[in-house]
Amino acid sequence: MKIDTKIIAHRGSKGTRPENTLISFQAAIDDGCDGIETDVHFSKDRQFIIMHDETVDRTTNGSGLIYEKNLAELKHLDAGIRFSEEFKGTTIPTLQEVVNLLIQNNFHGIFNLELKTNKVQYPGIEQAVYEYFASIQYPFQLIYSSFNAHSLEILNNIDPQAYRAKLFKTAAKQAKTLKKSKLIEDFHPDIRWVKRHPFFASVKHLRPWTVNSTEDMQYCFKRNMAAIITDYPARAVQLREEMRGD
Ligand code: G3P
Ligand code: MG
Repeated sequence: MKIDTKIIAHRGSKGTRPENTLISFQAAIDDGCDGIETDVHFSKDRQFIIMHDETVDRTTNGSGLIYEKNLAELKHLDAGIRFSEEFKGTTIPTLQEVVNLLIQNNFHGIFNLELKTNKVQYPGIEQAVYEYFASIQYPFQLIYSSFNAHSLEILNNIDPQAYRAKLFKTAAKQAKTLKKSKLIEDFHPDIRWVKRHPFFASVKHLRPWTVNSTEDMQYCFKRNMAAIITDYPARAVQLREEMRGD
């Protein structure tokens, strides 16, 4: 079977490593993923912090909001121990550390940076991220995404060439409107929504999340979707190989 679907590792190899850590991103690269998805916030001192939640409570041994802590304070937290004792001592990465890791690996895949501005707005983060990437050279394809349409609009105003995708759980109408007005190129929908709206499954540039079960992976591969975003890139790579060989 012809399958061009790319495999994007959600927060790294989240299923087998502490999410959004350098260990998790390195594992995803070693697993043979085609892309990496991650989430960015601002600390109190406006540093780029890689984490999913707005607070550090769930994934570290600390508590409180990211934007109420400076980078130095965040760096003292353990981002591995809650996943497993084996990963004790793992720190929270900055965006720059993740990008450096990708550069060291000469990673030519997709780097999908999700601006986590849907709960906390982090004013100025779009401009800061844009300036950071404009100041460096990198080997990967950068794709921005966000649940927050306003962040995507800001990015479009700053840099109309920036590649943007709209994340959504159910707000497909808004995503389609953004596409029509050329504020986005791609859709990153919840896989559960896609399966409830199968007519949408054939839309171009679809990268659903979080595609973890064999059944969901097969669903996306059979439809030759642009990509899947998964916690289990190694499993997805293996399944895609098997299906290609059919
Ligand atoms: O980018 C896909 C996915 O990460 C969106 O949801 O909550 O895991 O960031 P979330
Ligand atoms: Mg995300």
